[in-house]
Amino acid sequence: MRAAFYEKLGPAREVLRVGTLPDPSPMAGEVRVRIAASGVNPSDVKMRSGTGSAASQYPRIVPHSDGAGIIDQVGAGVPEARVGERVWVWNARWNRPFGTAAEFVTLPAEQAVPLPDGTDFAAGACFGIPALTAWQGVETDGGVQQGDWVLVNGGAGAVGHYAVQMAAHKGARVIATVSSAAKAAHARAAGAEIVIDRKLEDVAERIRSVTHGKGVARAIEVDFSGNIAWLPQAMADYGLIAIYGSSQREGTVPFGPSILSNIGYRFFIVYNQPPALRARAIAALSGMLREGRLKHTIAATFSLAEIASAHEAVEKGMTMGNIVVTP
Ligand SMILES: NC(=O)c1ccc[n+]([C@@H]2O[C@H](COP(=O)([O-])OP(=O)(O)OC[C@H]3O[C@@H](n4cnc5c(N)ncnc54)[C@H](OP(=O)(O)O)[C@@H]3O)[C@@H](O)[C@H]2O)c1
Repeated sequence: MRAAFYEKLGPAREVLRVGTLPDPSPMAGEVRVRIAASGVNPSDVKMRSGTGSAASQYPRIVPHSDGAGIIDQVGAGVPEARVGERVWVWNARWNRPFGTAAEFVTLPAEQAVPLPDGTDFAAGACFGIPALTAWQGVETDGGVQQGDWVLVNGGAGAVGHYAVQMAAHKGARVIATVSSAAKAAHARAAGAEIVIDRKLEDVAERIRSVTHGKGVARAIEVDFSGNIAWLPQAMADYGLIAIYGSSQREGTVPFGPSILSNIGYRFFIVYNQPPALRARAIAALSGMLREGRLKHTIAATFSLAEIASAHEAVEKGMTMGNIVVTP
């Protein structure tokens, strides 16, 4: 099969190669998916460059955890009827060496989830990480409630865009931060009631004004280290900060405002969702897809041969939406 792979960590253009690898065969309990679209996430890029939290212990790695395609083979114990099924996959490159940047991926059958007919493969390649992370940010620790004020920092990001939609759908009043007029329009179209340009305004002050001094019940945070200095000032009493990203590996939590407002901090990583939580997440997402409730944004599509450019696009962080590679 044609695949992209790397055998050492480093810059995309130096370490990513495209070539031919042996076709994989599904083992017992596995399916083989012919990949139509492979999603590129910041963690794929960090793992390849060696700057991520998860160290790589494999001699050769086919990158990317997310993808979508059609099951073309099943291993022993998996119903033959699954052959031909349209699916999206999760955790293809988590604790496993061979991800979705290839013509085929084999993985446990439960990691290939039916993709509703109305949803295309490029969108399906954005669910494993962006959509499931957004869902967890919205639903963790009791979830957002109708009428809650919810802050989505980075509301036009891949995760943030889904988080705005999911929180708004639950009846929350969403405040999104962005850094440009185009991103403001994107967040508003997703359901944000208030959009704040974080480069031009004092975000905490604006939130306190909008919420009449109350603060937000929940913040879904893309940059812990970048925003923690002011974040507690934007929170309501007993508010929860659900943290999925950080630009730096360290950040200092202000003790005074945190304890006075009884703030909860929930750090989470979607790769490690416990099985029961993941089952809930997948069921909820499948329902939203069947009902056509989610908008998906594909910022750019690259061929497999252009995978280094796809990684560089994610690294630059200038795009709005997901980057997809087509094998
Ligand atoms: N824990 C997990 O399981 C998990 C899952 C998915 C992603 N992540 C991490 O989450 C981060 C975002 O991922 P993504 O795929 O959504 O990336 P993305 O599509 O590049 O979106 C990031 C968004 O955050 C905004 N942003 C950057 N710095 C910000 C700040 N200080 N305050 C507010 N907004 C800020 C950016 O817009 P502007 O800078 O233009 O405002 C951009 O819209 C990455 O670090 C990724 O590794 C973690």
